[in-house]
Amino acid sequence: MSVAVRQLENTVRDLLDGGKGLLAADESTGTITKRFEAVGVASTEDNRRAFRELMFSTDDVERWLGGVILYDETIRQSTSDGTPMPGALVQRGIVPGIKVDRGAMPLALSPGEKVTEGLDGLRGRFEEYRDLGARFAKWRAVVELGDGIPTRAALTANAHAMARYAALAQEAGLVPIVEPEAIMDGTQSIDRSAEVSGAMLRELFAQLTDQGVVLEGLLVKTNMVVSGYRGAQQAGPDEVAERTVQVLRRNVPAAVPGVVFLSGGQTDDQATRNLDAIARCGPHPWTVSFSYARALQGAAMQAWAGAPDDITDAQRIFRERVRLTAAANRGELDAA
Ligand code: G3H
Repeated sequence: MSVAVRQLENTVRDLLDGGKGLLAADESTGTITKRFEAVGVASTEDNRRAFRELMFSTDDVERWLGGVILYDETIRQSTSDGTPMPGALVQRGIVPGIKVDRGAMPLALSPGEKVTEGLDGLRGRFEEYRDLGARFAKWRAVVELGDGIPTRAALTANAHAMARYAALAQEAGLVPIVEPEAIMDGTQSIDRSAEVSGAMLRELFAQLTDQGVVLEGLLVKTNMVVSGYRGAQQAGPDEVAERTVQVLRRNVPAAVPGVVFLSGGQTDDQATRNLDAIARCGPHPWTVSFSYARALQGAAMQAWAGAPDDITDAQRIFRERVRLTAAANRGELDAA
């Protein structure tokens, strides 16, 4: 089956053109429950819908967001006026996407390591998600850093599964976001973060090529190269930008149209400052942008938890966070 490359390229343009980025609102029920519990909100289906509708209906966000990644539950929900969630996004010119992996499970015979599952039945699920309005998809693989890990087995297993997902996505006409994430909450140096991030990307592109995935029709989503959050030395934005761009230039082919970053547990301020520094050291071979969950949603969620019946404050905070992140993406944070 041939891939409709033009269709994929159009989707990429709709997602990233004009300096736009993505909102990752695709937390699984387990993950959003943890986030809600941290701010004292019950994780009911209706609360999850309400918080996501709050974000999607915030004034002006379509100026800065080209796409939103949804979770399986959300893509089937409707807004309070009965509009299906994907349709509500499309009405605002925002492209709906869908997380399709089924989470990271323990990798057999590799203590402390994980492999992301979700390939079984994926061809059929893609057809359904496309009918529900999704034009792009996401699959996340996580790699822990520690003594003797990641192993080759973990890098290969995760990259192979991700490449098979990407091939199925393109076959269905959806742009795959491939998301290899090196977990940054350890004590490692920035050198070690760079080494593992590079190894992950190298293995991923070998597997994508083996599976015949069209590089022009996918996006890479990955971590910035930072010092482990519990490490003794913390690199500042200029060093983070330099190391991140070096790893990407060495390992992501120029045929790939875009690289978007996850926030990965950085504070809102770090995620914004580091993105700004990365933008300022361009031009880059690919469009560079953001695809944050926590660094866009965290403060708004906290405000909403304090006043669930009055969403004005939470929407104001969310709008400001998206605006500042988009300014950082242009390298214009100081003027914003
Ligand atoms: O898969 C992870 C999300 O898409 C990005 O989340 O920005 O909170 O790291 P984060």
